[in-house]
Amino acid sequence: MGSGDSMTNIDMQFHGSDIEKVEKFYHIKKEEIVNFSGNVNPLGLSALVISELKNHIELISAYPDRDYTSLRQVIAKYISVHPDQILVGNGSTELISLFIKIIHPEKATIIGPTYSEYEREIRIDGGRSISQALKEENDFKVDFESLKEDLAEDTDLLVICNPNNPTSTAIEHAELRQILDYCLAHHIFVLIDETYVEFTDNPDNVTGSMFCETYTNLFIIRGVSKFFAAPGLRLGYAVTGNKELIHQMNSLKNPWTINSLAAYAGELMLQDTDYINKTKALIKTEKNKFITILGSWTNVKVYAPSANFILVKIMDPTITAPMLFESLIKEKIMIRDASGFPFLNNKYFRFCINKPEENDLLIEHLKKLLNQ
Ligand SMILES: Cc1ncc(COP(=O)(O)O)c(C=O)c1O
Repeated sequence: MGSGDSMTNIDMQFHGSDIEKVEKFYHIKKEEIVNFSGNVNPLGLSALVISELKNHIELISAYPDRDYTSLRQVIAKYISVHPDQILVGNGSTELISLFIKIIHPEKATIIGPTYSEYEREIRIDGGRSISQALKEENDFKVDFESLKEDLAEDTDLLVICNPNNPTSTAIEHAELRQILDYCLAHHIFVLIDETYVEFTDNPDNVTGSMFCETYTNLFIIRGVSKFFAAPGLRLGYAVTGNKELIHQMNSLKNPWTINSLAAYAGELMLQDTDYINKTKALIKTEKNKFITILGSWTNVKVYAPSANFILVKIMDPTITAPMLFESLIKEKIMIRDASGFPFLNNKYFRFCINKPEENDLLIEHLKKLLNQ
């Protein structure tokens, strides 16, 4: 608790990007906080991007290419689709918003607990959402039969975050195709947010990008914020095989929403194979470390993570996630208290994979706080 504050995190909820609020509330300099809440690649920006951006700062003296042709070509190559199937936006957030405005869903089904932005955009647009609840007893994995029941009731949009934030569960191809087939046959659009897909062990078996030709009801969102550690750049992209949708989005979209430096940085990042490989190796090793160590503890349940973050349930009846948050932030360690997510409660917390020494520090503190 911050000196002089009568409120604790028991009353407050902090999101992964709320580091300034945490700084103010707990009187800890944000630079000193080890953030396990942001789900961002711990390697930080690649050295190549940093040096190249410094050398190309003059790019901001010209307008970006209105069609972002070169950037779209690099993205298309990165995910093996045609450049005409790519749209770029000011973070995935701009693309989610535009997509909802055009599709204008009356009733959406959102698989959750999940990222709150989809529900917000649908609500602002005048639509209504229902949640298809991922069940704890099913380890938060999708139940296709139950999903079909929800979809049968006039749904015009299905939203899937894959891998899902905060559960870190992923839907793989066999099941994804069943869902896409069902939705195509029932005229339901499918929005898939693949923000975390590159962190999975086998992204080719999770991403739906290769299905865009077949399923014209499919719209996939991705971005560079998390995997390339560039949330401040605001660069996202979408993939769809639906030409009419691309045309409508391009007509509605404001010009130049991605600045020249961001467009250039995007091209560099997606071609930086050294950085990409290093990230994948680091995440894989550290993820396994967490699974092995926390998996052997009796006071927690660890849900098998697909992405770069892990959802954990506290089994000790005397400890809650807000209590854990509070104790850790005093040590300048910030986790995500997941109590605020629908269908979760004050026993759940989420943390992302950071650098090995930071992860060891978190494990050491958790061990003590959870009486392991
Ligand atoms: C699932 C998910 N999608 C999208 C975003 C935001 O992405 P962007 O920075 O590309 O707008 C977040 C941020 O936390 C997220 O968790």
